[in-house]
Amino acid sequence: MEQTLSIIKPDGVRKNIIGDVIRRFESRGLTVIAMRMLQMTKQEAQGFYAVHKERPFFDSLTDFMSSGPVVVMVLEGPDAIALNRKIMGATNYEEAEEGTIRKDFASSIESNVVHGSDAPETAKTEIAYFFSSLDIMA
Ligand code: CMP
Repeated sequence: MEQTLSIIKPDGVRKNIIGDVIRRFESRGLTVIAMRMLQMTKQEAQGFYAVHKERPFFDSLTDFMSSGPVVVMVLEGPDAIALNRKIMGATNYEEAEEGTIRKDFASSIESNVVHGSDAPETAKTEIAYFFSSLDIMA
């Protein structure tokens, strides 16, 4: 079993598709073992995306991620990190496969509905950014 962090971004919450997104995870074998709805400050978004701080899109990304509520979840399942990324589709929705969340719902490379951890080490750090071990129903 593996755990990964998933975020339904402000555009996903605004589009009223929280249930649809979670259903896609659950129907493919991922289980929600922790969940919170919250709105990040700009500073909290900068902390979460610190690895991207030199990128040209960092300022816009952190404005966007702090622009409204998000749903953060820990998903668990066999190969959860890779499976979650497969269900989400490519970062750029124009390159995402048919039937993925981003292909179906994203409206730009930034407003791409969901975030998912990309590796075991990042999953650990990202989960700890939002959840204490007592919050996780593992
Ligand atoms: P995410 O998987 O959350 O990781 C970083 C985010 O930066 C990405 O999804 C996009 O929302 C956003 N982003 C904006 N522009 C770009 C870009 N040119 N390349 C990659 N990510 C981008």
